[in-house]
Amino acid sequence: MTVLKTSINKDDSRFITNYDYNKSLNKEIQSLISEVKNKREKGLIEKHKSRAKLLARERIQLLIDENSRFLEFSALAAYDNYDQNFPSAGIITGLGTIHGIETIIVANDATVKGGTYVSETIKKHLRAQEIALQNNLPIVYLVDSGGVFLPEQANVYPDKDHFGRIFFNQATISANRIPQVAIVMGACTAGGAYIPAMSDESIIVKDTGSIYLAGPPLVKAATGEVVSVEDLGGAKVHTSISGLVDHLAENDEEAISICRNIFEHLNITPKQGLSKIASEDPLYPIDEIYGLIQKNLSLQFNMYEIIARLVDGSRLQEFKSNYGKTIITGFARIKGYNVGIIANNGILFSESAQKATHFIELCSSRNIPIVFLQNIAGFMVGKEYEHKGIAKDGAKMIQAVATANVPKFTIIIGRSSGAGNYAMAGRAYQPNLLFLWPNAEISVMGGEHAANVLAGIKMKNPGSPILSTKEESELKKNIQERYQRESSSLFSTSRLWDDGIIDPADTRDVLAMGISMSLNKPFPEPKTGVYRM
Ligand code: COA
Repeated sequence: MTVLKTSINKDDSRFITNYDYNKSLNKEIQSLISEVKNKREKGLIEKHKSRAKLLARERIQLLIDENSRFLEFSALAAYDNYDQNFPSAGIITGLGTIHGIETIIVANDATVKGGTYVSETIKKHLRAQEIALQNNLPIVYLVDSGGVFLPEQANVYPDKDHFGRIFFNQATISANRIPQVAIVMGACTAGGAYIPAMSDESIIVKDTGSIYLAGPPLVKAATGEVVSVEDLGGAKVHTSISGLVDHLAENDEEAISICRNIFEHLNITPKQGLSKIASEDPLYPIDEIYGLIQKNLSLQFNMYEIIARLVDGSRLQEFKSNYGKTIITGFARIKGYNVGIIANNGILFSESAQKATHFIELCSSRNIPIVFLQNIAGFMVGKEYEHKGIAKDGAKMIQAVATANVPKFTIIIGRSSGAGNYAMAGRAYQPNLLFLWPNAEISVMGGEHAANVLAGIKMKNPGSPILSTKEESELKKNIQERYQRESSSLFSTSRLWDDGIIDPADTRDVLAMGISMSLNKPFPEPKTGVYRM
C-alpha cells in the first residue's frame, strides 16, 4: 500500500500563518464549548445542588463506564440565540458506553430554564433518537425537565418534528426492539411524562423525581383539586400506586447504578463484521493540519497531506489515482478499522463524479464504511461541461451516496457549497455522523458569487432601477457580509446542521468511535452490483 509522502515546509511563512490562525480559531471554539458546559447565571448551580441533585454532566459521567469517553453531540446548539440563555439548548446528548454497550444518552439540563425545550432542544433530542435508530443503539433518558418552554409554543408544539415527535420516535425505536431506559431525576411534566411512560424500564429518584400530565397549579385551575407534587406524581405514587415506574431510587447515584444493572441484561446481539487490525499512528503529527488548511478557503489545499495525517501509518490504497484527479478515493485504516476515503482535491468534474460513484459501489459491495472529507466549492459549470453531461454524472454520485448500504461519516474540513455538499454526503444524505472543523464554511455558493448573481438579477429586468456604482457596491457588500456570517461553523452548529464542531486533532478518535457505533446495525445488502462508470 502506498505510504503518503509529505512535502510541507514548516518554516514557510504561509504554513506558519495558517497554523497560528487555525490553532487560535480552534482554541476559541473549545473555550466556547467549555463556557456552555460550565458557565451559568449566579446561583443556578448552587440551587440545583442544594436539592441533592447531580448536574447533568455529572450524571452522565457516573453512568458511563469508568475511564471511557463520552462523545458529545452539538454542544453549541442554540449558541447564537435566546440572548445566550440556552447553553447547549438545555440538553446534553451523546454517545457513551455502559457495561461496554454503546449507548445514546439524552440528559436534560435543569440549570437551563428548568430543562425546558426550545426548538433546538427538540431538534437535538430528535437527532439523538435518529442516531440510535440508524445504528441500533440503546438510549438512556436522564429526565429533569419542565417540558415545553411555554413562550416558544408556536415553534415547538404541533408540527411534525416538534415535541410530540419525541414520543412517536420512542414508539418506533421500541418497535425496532432497541432498548430505552428512563431515569426521572427531577420534573417530568406534561407531554414529558410519556418519556418514562414509553421507555422499556424506568427509574425514579425519591423526593426529587415527579411525573404528571399537569402540575398542581394547572390541576387546581382545571378541576379545583388541591394536591401536592408528591401526592400528585411523586416517586412513591408511581412505584407503588400507578405502576408507571419500575424502580425506586434513594438518590441520583442509586438511580444510575440501577440503570447500569439493567444494561447487564440487555442481551445485545453481536456486531456487523468489519476487518480491524491494530491501530497505528499516522507518520506525521496530526496538529500539522492547522498549518495545512488555508486561512483563505478560496485557496486550494492539498488533500493528500490531510489524509496522510488522518489514516493509520499514512497509508492509502488509492483507487484510480490518475483519473478524475479532483477527487481522491482509496482504502485506508482509521484506528485499525477498514474504511473507504472520498476526499475533494478540487472542483467536481464528470470524471471525478464517475470515479467516486464507482468507488462508493466498491465500498457497498465489500461492506466497508465510507469517510467523506469535504472541501468542495461545487461541480464545474459552463457550456463545455453541461454539454459533456456534468448534471448526469453528478446525479450518479448523488444516487450512489443516497443509497449506499454502508455507514457514512462526513467531516467538513473546508468549504461545503453547491451540489458538492449533496454528493459528498451532506446532512440531507443522512451520514451516520457529520462533524465540522472550526474553519468550515457552509453556504449554497461563495458570498462573492452570490452578491454578483443577486446584483445582476436586480438590474436585468426592463424597468429595474438603475443602481449607481455606490448602490451596487453597497448591495454586494451587504450580501457578502450576510453570507460570511451565515456560512460559519458556529452558525451551522447552532442550528444543528451537523453533530458538532471538533478539533481537527481529535478527528481520528471521533471517527473510530463513530465507526464502532455504526457496527451495531447489520449492513443491508447493496441494491446493485458494481457498475463501471
Ligand atoms: N416555560 C417557560 N419557562 C419556564 C418553564 C416553562 N414550562 N418552566 C420553567 N421555566 C423557567 C422559569 O420561569 C425560570 O426562568 P427564570 O430563570 O428566567 O426566572 C426558570 O425556567 C427556572 O424555573 P424555576 O421554577 O425557577 O426552577 P425550579 O427548578 O424551581 O422548577 C420546574 C423547575 C420545571 C419544575 C418548574 O419551573 C415548573 O414546574 N415549570 C412549569 C412546568 C410546566 O407546567 N410545563 C408545561 C409544559 S407543556
